[in-house]
Formats: sequence, structure tokens, C-alpha cells
Amino acid sequence: MKFFLDTAHVPHIREAATVGLLDGITTNPTLLSKEEGSPADIMREICKIVDGPVSAEVISLEAEGMVREGLEWTKVAENIVVKIPMCIEGLKAIRTLSEQDVKTNCTLIFSPIQALMAAKAGASMVSPFVGRLDDIQTPGMELIEQIVQIFSNYGFPTEVLVASIRNPIHVVQSAEIGADIATMPWSVMQSLAKHPLTDRGIEQFLADWEKVKQRS
Ligand code: E4P
Repeated sequence: MKFFLDTAHVPHIREAATVGLLDGITTNPTLLSKEEGSPADIMREICKIVDGPVSAEVISLEAEGMVREGLEWTKVAENIVVKIPMCIEGLKAIRTLSEQDVKTNCTLIFSPIQALMAAKAGASMVSPFVGRLDDIQTPGMELIEQIVQIFSNYGFPTEVLVASIRNPIHVVQSAEIGADIATMPWSVMQSLAKHPLTDRGIEQFLADWEKVKQRS
């Protein structure tokens, strides 16, 4: 399973990239609004750090505008994936862009049938939002199971990108289900490497080393 960061915060992206586990980035207008500088400059900087797919979202509500914006985004860098919201106009834009070999990520997916429609339109990725479903007492991970099953039934090449991840359990469950990608905040990615027994073990080894190191 690929690990993406869900952020436009360049220092976090730089830090994650040094670990060597960063496969891509997702952004959205909310994440960009938290950073300084123009959206194009931020995205350009991100694409210089990350080789994998970097999602940049369109804001038009009509297919024509989405396609125009999407093509503009592709000029920023080769690894840009155009993020398009799920709706009828979005599906039209995904179709048009995929016919031009532009990679797309259909976002704001909350039902299995929305994911199927996006895949049929030619989306390269779909982004089901698990955390936002959990927030309204609907089990988000069940949606991931359904989408993975449906795509496997019909052999769609569309990748399942689990979005709106809030904690490490979401990441573990995504991997168990067989999702292609999990996109997460930097805080969640950092927490994946943590375990209290690991910390305790390191502490113990260091303490014991202090006892033996003078012996030689
Ligand atoms: C995904 O691409 C979205 O940017 C993101 O995961 C949304 O997460 P949120 O529900 O925490 O805003």
C-alpha cells in the first residue's frame, strides 16, 4: 500500500520525504488556504520534492471549467493529478481529461456507487473519505471494503485512495482490506512508527549498554 501525505505544508513534506516512505501527496483548497504563497507556487514546490502523484484540486462547478483548470494544473509539473469533485459535471470532466491521458483523482466519494461511476468515467484514483463518514456515525472503512470488492469484481485499474484518515487504525484497516493508497496527515504518519514497547526497549538497551561499554 502506498503512503501519501494529505497536506500542502512543505516542511512536513520535506521531512516525510527524507524517511523514504512518501509515495505521493494530496492537497485540497482547505489545506492550501493554511499555507503562505500562491497555490501554483506551493504546488510547484511540492512537486520538486515528491516524484509520485501530487493531487491539485479544481474549483469550477462545470465540466468545461474543470477541464480548463485541470489542464492549467498539469503545466505546473508532470506528476500533477487533477482532483475533481464527485458530481455529474465532474464525471464529464474526468472522461474528457482521461481521454487526453491526464491523470485524475475523483474526490468527495461517500458511496460505493459514486466510486463505480468515477471508475467508469476513467478516474485514475477515487478518494473515499472515511473520517468524515465516521464523524456522522457511518463506518467509513465499510465503504473501502465495498469499493475494493467492486473494483476487483470488474478489474478496474482505478486506485482506491483512502482519504480523510484520522488515526493509525484507519491505515492498518486500509492495508488489511487491500486499498491501494492511504493519504494521511503528517501526525498520523509519524504515529505509525511508534509503539510504547519499542520506546521502552530502546531505553532498556541504552541503560544496559552503559553498564557494559567500559569492559573492553
Ligand atoms: C483527501 O484527498 C482530502 O484532502 C482529505 O483527506 C480530507 O480530509 P479531512 O476530512 O480531514 O478534511
